[in-house]
Amino acid sequence: MLKWIDNAVFYEIYPTSFYDSNGDGIGDLRGIAEKADYVKSLGVDAVWFNPFFKSPFKDGGYDVADYYEIDKRFGTMEDFEYMVKVFKEKGIKIILDLVIGHTSDKHKWFKKSTLAKKNKYYDYYVWTDDVNTSYPGAIRGLYYRNGGYVPNYYASQPALNYGFNQLDEKAPWKLHYKDERLRPLREEILNIMRFYFDKGIDGFRVDLAGHLIKEGQVFDYDKYYDDYDEKTDGIQWLWGQLLGTIRKEYKDKVFIAEWDIPQLAITKCGFDMDFLTHDTFYFGDLYRNEKDLNLSPYFERGDNYFSPNGKGTLDNFVHYVEYLYGKLGDKGMFTAPTGTHDEVRMSTRKSPDLIKCIFAFMLTLKQVPMIYYGDEIGIEHNYSVSKDGGGKRTGARTPMQWDNGKNRGFSTKKTTYLPTSDKVGQSVAEQEKDKNSILNVVRDLIKIKKWYPALKASSDQTFIEKGYPAVFERTDGKQTITVLINPSDTVINKKVDYSKVIYSQNTQFDKDNITLDKQSFAILLK
Ligand code: NOJ
Ligand code: CA
Repeated sequence: MLKWIDNAVFYEIYPTSFYDSNGDGIGDLRGIAEKADYVKSLGVDAVWFNPFFKSPFKDGGYDVADYYEIDKRFGTMEDFEYMVKVFKEKGIKIILDLVIGHTSDKHKWFKKSTLAKKNKYYDYYVWTDDVNTSYPGAIRGLYYRNGGYVPNYYASQPALNYGFNQLDEKAPWKLHYKDERLRPLREEILNIMRFYFDKGIDGFRVDLAGHLIKEGQVFDYDKYYDDYDEKTDGIQWLWGQLLGTIRKEYKDKVFIAEWDIPQLAITKCGFDMDFLTHDTFYFGDLYRNEKDLNLSPYFERGDNYFSPNGKGTLDNFVHYVEYLYGKLGDKGMFTAPTGTHDEVRMSTRKSPDLIKCIFAFMLTLKQVPMIYYGDEIGIEHNYSVSKDGGGKRTGARTPMQWDNGKNRGFSTKKTTYLPTSDKVGQSVAEQEKDKNSILNVVRDLIKIKKWYPALKASSDQTFIEKGYPAVFERTDGKQTITVLINPSDTVINKKVDYSKVIYSQNTQFDKDNITLDKQSFAILLK
């Protein structure tokens, strides 16, 4: 495992929504630089930024029109360099979003590939050989070129061409992933990486990392995946090429896959990290399920573990992560983020004490923790906004709340590009004053995580109980830490052996008798 990620904590920033430095109502890179001290005060090691490259924003910037230009809404390349400098001075690492599954249809590569006459960009995208050839998802009839293009997500996101996993006699337009005609695109991708590494960044989060090869992955995300090998030779080969080349040129850089199959991304493709996604059979019953809160559920799962009703269980989650630890060994680690720009805000309709239980869990668990901006102050989801192609996801992308004033300190403009919440207490300034606020408890938990080697990603973990309370042990062989968490409304008594209370919430100690009140946790040194 890359050494510096072993006890690292990551933070995700959606640049449109962090801080507006020039009063135009929208977040920007100078604004982020202005808030670097705040990021530093959290104690995080690295920040992952969602894309801020030139884009028509049909999908929140995940539709890049020029990889080498900063979008006007965020500033200029000089502003980017300034932001890198400020973060570097504070010792915070910078991770950019590498969106290489597709570009925007406004990218010059794509525009050229749509022309009738063959040119350099002919094979950069996945095109069929005739406008009448039908292929699932292919968009036909928009351009002069005699063919249809295959988009990845929205129609305006044509898929870049890394080839197909297999040749197809009936469809000769499908190039094999090793076809020499695909090499120039791979060179472009490597050059983008080189360009930003040379500017001093520390790694990339790779969008759609597992979906670059067409027809190369047939997975049922509701199962374990031990049988992926034959279908994924293409993607393994591709990442072997890309990472094999770039890692020789740049050392210690982190590559984080957006894939949700860590055992494939890390062990077979050479990534350092991968995400666990909230909307899955194992993560869904932690805190993303809102069924017990009588909301219209985003998805249907069992009872939520982090819920006052105390009906959930960590069974699925623990079973799955234990399976993963076995597969990953010391090659890398997953991150189970508190949230992302794609998911419903974790804090939605949860009490501050319950939210703190979630942080206590996530910051002591064997993983590389990642905090989505605003989760550390309990920002809730806004279900009534949609912008920049976000749909329901937009509700997790509202502006950061800095204080209790106008636009919650995000911008001086009369109206901001998305509204800020008016929920009392959910701002940095308000929470700074209270040592028990979510913000200050998160800071304390991060300090603890970084202080005790037993809480490193590489340290061992044993689950003792997966109900209420959840009890697990972490150890690096020298010290052992026991964590107890009770998100429920039930008061629980427990007998535990320990030498020192490192940190606790709503918990009383009477020698080895511990009373865990509702929404409590305790972090104990053995
Ligand atoms: C995953 C990104 O996180 C999401 O926001 C985006 O819409 C898709 N990839 C497509 O790029
Ligand atoms: Ca601005």
